Amino acid sequence: MNRDLLDILSDSASNEQFELRDPIYENERVKSGYLVSASSDSEYEIKDFIPRFVSDQKYATSFGYEWHFFKKTQLDSHTGTHISRDRWSDITGYQPEDMKGKVVLEAGCGSGRFLEIVAPFSKKCIGLDMSSAVDAASDNLIRDFSTVDIIQADLNRTAIQKNSVDFVYSIGVLDHIPDTLKGIKSLVSLIKPGGELAVWLYGPHLKIWPGDMYRFIGSRMDPHRLLTILKKYVPFALKTHKIPFLGKFFKWVLFPAPEYAHLPIPEDMRLEWSILDAYDRFGSIIEKHFSEEQLRKILQDAGLINIRKNKVLNSFIGQKPA
Ligand SMILES: C[S@@+](CC[C@H](N)C(=O)[O-])C[C@H]1O[C@@H](n2cnc3c(N)ncnc32)[C@H](O)[C@@H]1O
Repeated sequence: MNRDLLDILSDSASNEQFELRDPIYENERVKSGYLVSASSDSEYEIKDFIPRFVSDQKYATSFGYEWHFFKKTQLDSHTGTHISRDRWSDITGYQPEDMKGKVVLEAGCGSGRFLEIVAPFSKKCIGLDMSSAVDAASDNLIRDFSTVDIIQADLNRTAIQKNSVDFVYSIGVLDHIPDTLKGIKSLVSLIKPGGELAVWLYGPHLKIWPGDMYRFIGSRMDPHRLLTILKKYVPFALKTHKIPFLGKFFKWVLFPAPEYAHLPIPEDMRLEWSILDAYDRFGSIIEKHFSEEQLRKILQDAGLINIRKNKVLNSFIGQKPA
């Protein structure tokens, strides 16, 4: 971590700023050490440049595995495209350049595909994730972007000071946690008055969707086993989608699998995106779906005003009252 991250962090129990103990520096960052809070006796390890505020990945364990295996798959620097940049803009309603001078937080950063977009412009860019995905994000980003800091924490209990961040975004995360309103309230508390929160969550789907059955099985499997099966299942399922007349039945009922035919990347990369997404859909323990009305209401209940819908279905942005 950068030493100046200390100015933004505080102990969730006592609200007190941390002291840095036994730091070992590498390339001007703290590679290891401890964050201690005198009055509450709390002590958190900094390991491999990342402050660790959780010892257990809880329901997010499968994501840790996912982002290690697909560490680079969706990074624009890897695909040589603007896919992630465009998606970030379509979800937040901003261009990355608009983040100039801002302290930005991504809640649930995965391997950092969106941090890579914001990092060149923001004053400070914090990627937070509860799973071991943080190690992938850190490997991907901290060498190239001095503005980036990665922390491992639950977004419900972040160790980030209240009213300290200008802009928070969270993409495909708040639909994977037990209490979405609580999570959004927690993120809102971190934003400075007048700052904004942008989110994207899954939209509504059929009450009975066969993919849910696959998820029921997949999320109970060992992650490695699930991935081994999906590497065979996804290419097969995608082939069945092309069968004349019956293709739609295979796609929507029997052999669901995410398709990325529209992406401007080579065939083998598209297949990798499909396997990644299938793993994401079938491996996650919690997956919730929201209508736009439900989501708008949750954002209102979390205290946001000036709520606007953005380009991607179920993407919204709202402002914390000044
Ligand atoms: C579907 S991935 C999305 C990652 C990234 N936003 C993206 O779009 O590439 C969801 C991420 O949220 C993280 N996550 C789930 N619950 C979390 C929580 N309570 N606090 C922080 N991160 C969480 C998971 O570990 C995972 O990396």
